[in-house]
Amino acid sequence: QATEAELKRQIIEIKKELGEDLFIPGHHYQRDEVIQFADATGDSLQLALYSKEKTAKYIVFCGVHFMAETADLLARPHQRVILPDMRAGCSMADMATERQTEMCWDILTERFGEELLPVTYVNSSAAIKAFVGKHGGATVTSSNAKKVMTWALGQGKRILFLPDQHLGRNTAVDLGMALDQMAVWDPIKETLNQTSADEQIQLILWQGHCSVHQHFTVEQMNTLRKDEPDVQVIVHPECHYDVVQASDYAGSTKYIIETIEQSPSGSKFAVGTEMNLVNRLKAHHPDKDIRSLNPHMCACVTMNRIDLPHLAWALEQLIKNDPINVIKVDDAKRQDAKAAITRMFNI
Ligand code: 13P
Ligand code: SF4
Repeated sequence: QATEAELKRQIIEIKKELGEDLFIPGHHYQRDEVIQFADATGDSLQLALYSKEKTAKYIVFCGVHFMAETADLLARPHQRVILPDMRAGCSMADMATERQTEMCWDILTERFGEELLPVTYVNSSAAIKAFVGKHGGATVTSSNAKKVMTWALGQGKRILFLPDQHLGRNTAVDLGMALDQMAVWDPIKETLNQTSADEQIQLILWQGHCSVHQHFTVEQMNTLRKDEPDVQVIVHPECHYDVVQASDYAGSTKYIIETIEQSPSGSKFAVGTEMNLVNRLKAHHPDKDIRSLNPHMCACVTMNRIDLPHLAWALEQLIKNDPINVIKVDDAKRQDAKAAITRMFNI
Protein backbone atom coordinates (compact mmCIF):
# COMPACT_ATOMS: atom_id res chain seq x y z
CA GLN A 1 0.00 0.00 0.00
CA ALA A 2 1.36 3.40 -1.04
CA THR A 3 2.10 5.96 1.65
CA GLU A 4 0.47 9.39 1.66
CA ALA A 5 3.71 10.95 0.42
CA GLU A 6 3.91 8.45 -2.46
CA LEU A 7 0.30 9.09 -3.45
CA LYS A 8 0.89 12.83 -3.45
CA ARG A 9 4.01 12.46 -5.56
CA GLN A 10 2.16 10.22 -7.98
CA ILE A 11 -0.70 12.73 -8.34
CA ILE A 12 1.70 15.64 -8.92
CA GLU A 13 3.55 13.67 -11.62
CA ILE A 14 0.37 12.62 -13.41
CA LYS A 15 -0.99 16.15 -13.31
CA LYS A 16 2.25 17.37 -14.89
CA GLU A 17 2.17 14.67 -17.54
CA LEU A 18 -1.47 15.23 -18.52
CA GLY A 19 -1.20 19.03 -18.42
CA GLU A 20 -4.08 20.71 -20.23
CA ASP A 21 -5.73 17.36 -20.88
CA LEU A 22 -6.76 17.18 -17.23
CA PHE A 23 -9.08 19.36 -15.16
CA ILE A 24 -9.86 18.62 -11.53
CA PRO A 25 -12.82 20.54 -10.09
CA GLY A 26 -13.24 20.22 -6.31
CA HIS A 27 -16.43 20.98 -4.37
CA HIS A 28 -16.04 23.07 -1.21
CA TYR A 29 -17.12 20.09 0.93
CA GLN A 30 -14.23 17.89 -0.23
CA ARG A 31 -11.40 16.81 2.05
CA ASP A 32 -8.26 18.99 2.29
CA GLU A 33 -6.16 16.12 0.95
CA VAL A 34 -8.19 16.28 -2.28
CA ILE A 35 -8.76 20.05 -2.47
CA GLN A 36 -4.99 20.63 -2.54
CA PHE A 37 -4.95 19.08 -6.02
CA ALA A 38 -8.07 20.80 -7.37
CA ASP A 39 -7.57 23.11 -10.37
CA ALA A 40 -10.69 25.00 -9.31
CA THR A 41 -12.86 24.93 -6.20
CA GLY A 42 -16.43 26.05 -5.99
CA ASP A 43 -20.02 25.32 -5.10
CA SER A 44 -22.16 23.20 -7.37
CA LEU A 45 -23.10 26.12 -9.67
CA GLN A 46 -19.54 27.40 -10.01
CA LEU A 47 -18.22 23.91 -10.75
CA ALA A 48 -20.90 23.36 -13.38
CA LEU A 49 -19.86 26.63 -15.02
CA TYR A 50 -16.14 25.84 -14.89
CA SER A 51 -16.75 22.42 -16.41
CA LYS A 52 -18.72 24.07 -19.21
CA GLU A 53 -15.82 26.37 -20.05
CA LYS A 54 -13.02 23.80 -19.92
CA THR A 55 -11.84 21.88 -22.93
CA ALA A 56 -9.69 19.30 -21.06
CA LYS A 57 -10.05 15.73 -22.29
CA TYR A 58 -10.56 14.43 -18.74
CA ILE A 59 -12.60 16.09 -16.01
CA VAL A 60 -11.83 14.23 -12.77
CA PHE A 61 -14.70 15.44 -10.63
CA CYS A 62 -14.04 15.66 -6.92
CA GLY A 63 -17.56 15.99 -5.63
CA VAL A 64 -20.61 13.73 -5.70
CA HIS A 65 -22.34 11.76 -8.42
CA PHE A 66 -25.04 14.28 -9.42
CA MET A 67 -22.35 16.96 -9.87
CA ALA A 68 -20.34 14.68 -12.16
CA GLU A 69 -23.52 13.97 -14.14
CA THR A 70 -24.12 17.71 -14.52
CA ALA A 71 -20.54 18.14 -15.72
CA ASP A 72 -21.10 15.37 -18.26
CA LEU A 73 -24.30 17.01 -19.48
CA LEU A 74 -22.36 20.21 -20.12
CA ALA A 75 -19.26 18.48 -21.50
CA ARG A 76 -18.18 18.48 -25.14
CA PRO A 77 -18.29 15.17 -27.03
CA HIS A 78 -14.54 14.50 -26.69
CA GLN A 79 -14.56 14.99 -22.90
CA ARG A 80 -14.80 12.26 -20.27
CA VAL A 81 -16.03 12.96 -16.75
CA ILE A 82 -14.64 10.71 -14.05
CA LEU A 83 -15.80 10.28 -10.45
CA PRO A 84 -12.91 8.84 -8.41
CA ASP A 85 -15.25 6.77 -6.21
CA MET A 86 -18.62 5.60 -7.52
CA ARG A 87 -19.93 5.39 -3.95
CA ALA A 88 -19.77 9.17 -3.68
CA GLY A 89 -23.50 9.76 -4.06
CA CYS A 90 -25.86 12.14 -2.30
CA SER A 91 -28.49 10.81 0.08
CA MET A 92 -30.78 13.72 -0.74
CA ALA A 93 -30.59 13.06 -4.49
CA ASP A 94 -31.49 9.42 -3.78
CA MET A 95 -34.70 10.53 -2.05
CA ALA A 96 -36.43 11.17 -5.38
CA THR A 97 -36.46 8.32 -7.89
CA GLU A 98 -37.82 8.53 -11.40
CA ARG A 99 -40.61 6.06 -10.65
CA GLN A 100 -41.68 7.95 -7.52
CA THR A 101 -41.64 11.25 -9.42
CA GLU A 102 -43.80 9.89 -12.23
CA MET A 103 -46.24 8.46 -9.71
CA CYS A 104 -46.41 11.78 -7.86
CA TRP A 105 -46.91 13.65 -11.14
CA ASP A 106 -49.78 11.40 -12.22
CA ILE A 107 -51.58 11.79 -8.91
CA LEU A 108 -51.05 15.55 -8.68
CA THR A 109 -51.92 16.38 -12.27
CA GLU A 110 -55.12 14.39 -11.93
CA ARG A 111 -55.96 16.31 -8.78
CA PHE A 112 -54.87 19.80 -9.83
CA GLY A 113 -55.17 19.59 -13.59
CA GLU A 114 -52.22 20.25 -15.89
CA GLU A 115 -51.29 23.43 -14.04
CA LEU A 116 -48.11 22.08 -12.50
CA LEU A 117 -44.49 23.06 -13.14
CA PRO A 118 -41.61 20.92 -11.83
CA VAL A 119 -38.41 22.49 -10.52
CA THR A 120 -35.50 20.48 -9.17
CA TYR A 121 -32.50 21.28 -7.02
CA VAL A 122 -29.37 20.22 -8.94
CA ASN A 123 -28.92 17.70 -6.11
CA SER A 124 -30.92 15.16 -8.12
CA SER A 125 -30.22 12.43 -10.65
CA ALA A 126 -30.04 13.12 -14.38
CA ALA A 127 -33.30 11.14 -14.70
CA ILE A 128 -35.10 13.63 -12.44
CA LYS A 129 -33.55 16.55 -14.30
CA ALA A 130 -34.78 14.99 -17.56
CA PHE A 131 -38.29 14.65 -16.12
CA VAL A 132 -38.25 18.31 -15.11
CA GLY A 133 -36.81 19.43 -18.45
CA LYS A 134 -39.44 17.45 -20.36
CA HIS A 135 -42.23 19.20 -18.44
CA GLY A 136 -40.89 22.72 -19.04
CA GLY A 137 -39.17 23.16 -15.66
CA ALA A 138 -35.66 24.12 -14.60
CA THR A 139 -32.95 23.14 -12.18
CA VAL A 140 -31.87 25.41 -9.31
CA THR A 141 -28.80 25.58 -7.13
CA SER A 142 -28.68 27.04 -3.65
CA SER A 143 -27.05 30.19 -5.03
CA ASN A 144 -29.71 30.92 -7.67
CA ALA A 145 -32.78 29.37 -6.02
CA LYS A 146 -34.48 32.74 -5.49
CA LYS A 147 -34.05 33.76 -9.13
CA VAL A 148 -35.32 30.47 -10.52
CA MET A 149 -38.20 30.25 -8.04
CA THR A 150 -39.24 33.81 -8.98
CA TRP A 151 -39.27 32.75 -12.63
CA ALA A 152 -41.25 29.61 -11.81
CA LEU A 153 -43.84 31.53 -9.78
CA GLY A 154 -44.22 33.90 -12.71
CA GLN A 155 -45.33 31.01 -14.97
CA GLY A 156 -48.76 31.03 -13.28
CA LYS A 157 -48.69 27.36 -12.32
CA ARG A 158 -48.37 25.42 -9.09
CA ILE A 159 -44.79 24.34 -8.53
CA LEU A 160 -43.55 20.88 -7.63
CA PHE A 161 -40.12 21.37 -6.01
CA LEU A 162 -37.77 18.37 -5.80
CA PRO A 163 -36.10 16.88 -3.80
CA ASP A 164 -35.17 19.21 -0.90
CA GLN A 165 -38.21 20.48 0.98
CA HIS A 166 -36.05 22.83 3.05
CA LEU A 167 -34.41 24.71 0.19
CA GLY A 168 -37.85 24.97 -1.45
CA ARG A 169 -39.59 26.22 1.69
CA ASN A 170 -36.83 28.61 2.76
CA THR A 171 -36.60 30.13 -0.71
CA ALA A 172 -40.37 30.57 -1.07
CA VAL A 173 -40.66 32.20 2.36
CA ASP A 174 -37.83 34.53 1.38
CA LEU A 175 -39.93 35.53 -1.61
CA GLY A 176 -42.93 36.28 0.58
CA MET A 177 -44.94 33.05 0.31
CA ALA A 178 -46.87 31.97 3.41
CA LEU A 179 -46.34 28.50 4.89
CA ASP A 180 -49.99 27.58 4.37
CA GLN A 181 -49.53 28.09 0.62
CA MET A 182 -47.23 25.05 0.68
CA ALA A 183 -47.88 21.33 1.00
CA VAL A 184 -45.47 18.41 1.31
CA TRP A 185 -45.52 15.34 -0.92
CA ASP A 186 -44.60 12.13 0.90
CA PRO A 187 -43.14 9.84 -1.81
CA ILE A 188 -43.35 6.74 0.37
CA LYS A 189 -46.99 7.05 1.42
CA GLU A 190 -47.85 8.84 -1.84
CA THR A 191 -49.88 11.46 -0.03
CA LEU A 192 -49.95 15.23 0.13
CA ASN A 193 -49.61 16.67 3.62
CA GLN A 194 -51.32 20.03 3.75
CA THR A 195 -52.82 22.42 6.27
CA SER A 196 -54.98 24.40 3.85
CA ALA A 197 -57.40 23.86 0.98
CA ASP A 198 -56.14 22.77 -2.46
CA GLU A 199 -56.95 26.18 -4.00
CA GLN A 200 -54.55 27.91 -1.64
CA ILE A 201 -51.57 25.68 -2.39
CA GLN A 202 -48.96 27.18 -4.73
CA LEU A 203 -45.91 25.12 -3.90
CA ILE A 204 -45.64 21.37 -3.41
CA LEU A 205 -42.44 20.35 -1.69
CA TRP A 206 -40.95 16.90 -2.13
CA GLN A 207 -40.29 15.36 1.29
CA GLY A 208 -36.52 15.13 0.90
CA HIS A 209 -33.75 16.52 3.06
CA CYS A 210 -29.98 16.60 3.47
CA SER A 211 -28.65 14.11 5.98
CA VAL A 212 -25.90 16.54 6.96
CA HIS A 213 -27.79 19.83 7.28
CA GLN A 214 -30.62 18.23 9.26
CA HIS A 215 -28.20 18.03 12.19
CA PHE A 216 -28.25 21.77 12.87
CA THR A 217 -30.90 22.80 15.36
CA VAL A 218 -32.46 25.80 17.09
CA GLU A 219 -31.49 24.24 20.44
CA GLN A 220 -27.80 24.41 19.45
CA MET A 221 -28.29 28.06 18.59
CA ASN A 222 -30.06 28.84 21.88
CA THR A 223 -27.33 27.16 23.92
CA LEU A 224 -24.63 29.00 22.01
CA ARG A 225 -26.32 32.39 22.28
CA LYS A 226 -26.81 31.97 26.01
CA ASP A 227 -23.08 31.39 26.52
CA GLU A 228 -21.68 33.63 23.76
CA PRO A 229 -24.20 36.20 22.54
CA ASP A 230 -21.70 37.82 20.17
CA VAL A 231 -21.37 34.75 17.93
CA GLN A 232 -23.22 35.15 14.62
CA VAL A 233 -24.96 32.10 13.21
CA ILE A 234 -24.75 31.47 9.47
CA VAL A 235 -26.46 28.46 7.88
CA HIS A 236 -27.11 26.83 4.51
CA PRO A 237 -30.73 26.87 3.23
CA GLU A 238 -30.77 23.05 3.31
CA CYS A 239 -31.24 23.50 7.06
CA HIS A 240 -34.71 23.26 8.59
CA TYR A 241 -37.00 26.32 8.26
CA ASP A 242 -36.87 27.03 12.02
CA VAL A 243 -33.08 26.99 11.95
CA VAL A 244 -32.91 29.37 8.98
CA GLN A 245 -35.45 31.69 10.61
CA ALA A 246 -33.51 31.78 13.88
CA SER A 247 -30.10 32.28 12.22
CA ASP A 248 -28.39 35.64 11.65
CA TYR A 249 -27.54 34.82 8.04
CA ALA A 250 -28.62 32.07 5.65
CA GLY A 251 -27.39 31.38 2.14
CA SER A 252 -25.61 29.09 -0.26
CA THR A 253 -22.12 27.71 0.23
CA LYS A 254 -20.74 30.60 -1.83
CA TYR A 255 -22.67 33.11 0.28
CA ILE A 256 -21.36 31.59 3.52
CA ILE A 257 -17.76 31.80 2.28
CA GLU A 258 -18.12 35.39 1.06
CA THR A 259 -19.92 36.60 4.19
CA ILE A 260 -17.16 35.24 6.41
CA GLU A 261 -14.42 36.53 4.10
CA GLN A 262 -15.89 40.02 4.11
CA SER A 263 -16.49 40.18 7.88
CA PRO A 264 -14.12 42.30 9.99
CA SER A 265 -11.23 40.74 11.86
CA GLY A 266 -12.32 39.40 15.25
CA SER A 267 -15.78 38.31 13.98
CA LYS A 268 -17.24 35.17 15.52
CA PHE A 269 -19.28 32.70 13.48
CA ALA A 270 -21.05 29.43 14.16
CA VAL A 271 -21.55 27.81 10.77
CA GLY A 272 -24.30 25.38 9.81
CA THR A 273 -22.79 23.49 6.92
CA GLU A 274 -20.43 20.62 6.06
CA MET A 275 -17.42 20.03 8.29
CA ASN A 276 -14.60 20.17 5.71
CA LEU A 277 -15.67 23.63 4.62
CA VAL A 278 -16.04 24.86 8.21
CA ASN A 279 -12.55 23.60 9.07
CA ARG A 280 -11.08 25.24 5.98
CA LEU A 281 -12.77 28.56 6.76
CA LYS A 282 -11.32 28.31 10.24
CA ALA A 283 -7.82 27.66 8.86
CA HIS A 284 -8.06 30.45 6.25
CA HIS A 285 -9.24 33.05 8.77
CA PRO A 286 -7.07 32.73 11.86
CA ASP A 287 -8.09 36.28 12.86
CA LYS A 288 -11.73 35.17 13.22
CA ASP A 289 -13.43 32.74 15.57
CA ILE A 290 -15.10 30.11 13.40
CA ARG A 291 -16.69 26.88 14.54
CA SER A 292 -19.48 24.50 13.52
CA LEU A 293 -22.95 25.26 14.88
CA ASN A 294 -23.15 21.59 15.83
CA PRO A 295 -20.40 20.90 18.39
CA HIS A 296 -20.07 17.34 17.04
CA MET A 297 -19.40 18.74 13.53
CA CYS A 298 -21.31 17.38 10.57
CA ALA A 299 -19.55 15.51 7.80
CA CYS A 300 -21.03 14.45 4.48
CA VAL A 301 -20.07 10.78 4.39
CA THR A 302 -20.39 10.51 0.64
CA MET A 303 -18.39 13.67 -0.15
CA ASN A 304 -15.67 12.27 2.08
CA ARG A 305 -15.43 9.07 0.07
CA ILE A 306 -13.26 10.88 -2.45
CA ASP A 307 -9.86 10.60 -0.82
CA LEU A 308 -6.22 10.55 -1.82
CA PRO A 309 -6.08 6.83 -2.79
CA HIS A 310 -9.19 7.12 -4.99
CA LEU A 311 -7.93 10.28 -6.67
CA ALA A 312 -4.53 8.69 -7.33
CA TRP A 313 -6.18 5.53 -8.68
CA ALA A 314 -8.48 7.47 -11.04
CA LEU A 315 -5.52 9.47 -12.36
CA GLU A 316 -3.29 6.44 -12.74
CA GLN A 317 -5.91 4.81 -14.92
CA LEU A 318 -5.83 7.82 -17.23
CA ILE A 319 -2.11 7.38 -17.74
CA LYS A 320 -2.75 3.73 -18.56
CA ASN A 321 -5.32 4.91 -21.08
CA ASP A 322 -7.98 2.90 -19.28
CA PRO A 323 -10.26 5.43 -17.52
CA ILE A 324 -12.42 4.08 -14.70
CA ASN A 325 -15.72 5.38 -13.29
CA VAL A 326 -16.63 7.34 -16.39
CA ILE A 327 -19.92 9.15 -15.77
CA LYS A 328 -22.08 9.12 -18.86
CA VAL A 329 -25.69 10.23 -18.77
CA ASP A 330 -27.98 7.95 -20.72
CA ASP A 331 -28.67 9.25 -24.27
CA ALA A 332 -32.40 8.90 -23.68
CA LYS A 333 -32.24 11.40 -20.79
CA ARG A 334 -29.55 13.71 -22.06
CA GLN A 335 -31.51 16.22 -24.07
CA ASP A 336 -34.29 16.77 -21.52
CA ALA A 337 -31.88 16.93 -18.58
CA LYS A 338 -29.78 19.46 -20.43
CA ALA A 339 -32.90 21.49 -21.23
CA ALA A 340 -33.61 21.87 -17.49
CA ILE A 341 -30.05 23.05 -16.84
CA THR A 342 -30.00 25.38 -19.86
CA ARG A 343 -33.28 26.94 -18.69
CA MET A 344 -31.62 27.63 -15.33
CA PHE A 345 -28.64 29.30 -17.02
CA ASN A 346 -30.94 31.39 -19.20
CA ILE A 347 -32.92 32.54 -16.17
P1 13P B 1 -24.05 24.09 -3.09
O1 13P B 1 -25.02 24.34 -4.22
O2 13P B 1 -24.12 25.17 -2.07
O3 13P B 1 -22.70 23.79 -3.59
O4 13P B 1 -24.57 22.82 -2.31
C1 13P B 1 -24.37 21.54 -2.78
C2 13P B 1 -24.61 20.59 -1.71
O5 13P B 1 -24.56 19.42 -1.90
C3 13P B 1 -24.94 21.15 -0.42
O6 13P B 1 -25.21 20.16 0.47
FE1 SF4 C 1 -26.02 15.56 -0.50
FE2 SF4 C 1 -26.18 16.80 1.86
FE3 SF4 C 1 -23.91 15.62 1.13
FE4 SF4 C 1 -24.72 17.86 -0.08
S1 SF4 C 1 -24.09 17.64 2.05
S2 SF4 C 1 -23.92 16.04 -1.07
S3 SF4 C 1 -26.96 17.54 -0.09
S4 SF4 C 1 -25.90 14.62 1.51
